[in-house]
Amino acid sequence: MKRPIIIHPDPRLKKLCAPVSDLSDDLRVLADDMLETMYDAPGIGLAAPQVGVLSRLIVLDCVKGENEPPQPMIMFNPEVIASSDALNVHEEGCLSIPDIYQEVTRPAEVNVRWIDRNGKLQEAGFDGLWATCVQHEIDHLNGILFIDYLGRMRRQMITRKMQKLKRELARE
Ligand code: NI
Repeated sequence: MKRPIIIHPDPRLKKLCAPVSDLSDDLRVLADDMLETMYDAPGIGLAAPQVGVLSRLIVLDCVKGENEPPQPMIMFNPEVIASSDALNVHEEGCLSIPDIYQEVTRPAEVNVRWIDRNGKLQEAGFDGLWATCVQHEIDHLNGILFIDYLGRMRRQMITRKMQKLKRELARE
């Protein structure tokens, strides 16, 4: 089932999310709902706070080509355990900040550890778009948005634009 995506600014997007201690069926349903919501948007990543749940859960699928099979990933308690010194600049967007795209600099490669849908501990290296996306989504669990990496003026301009968008959406 699709879930509504929270638009910035919203206090729920600025919270530190709690670790998942018990992998309940409710959390698995939430993860599946988040993937459905992400694909429908469409987007390449989504974090639980974006659908109003303040738990450490992200989903992503950065497969680009239309002919490539999808690669949905569900990560509970994801953690960056190593980052490359090499940096990468990528244009980022966010389903909670629609139609805004800005360049953000992050480590080019990261190793991430997480618990998968079956409760199994996993670890893998990510680069390219996957590295950008997984770092962006983990940031969400710590109340950090990609616009927090921009200058204050630009961030305020984007926030005002989003406030206006939310007023328009509320009127519909
Ligand atoms: Ni985002």
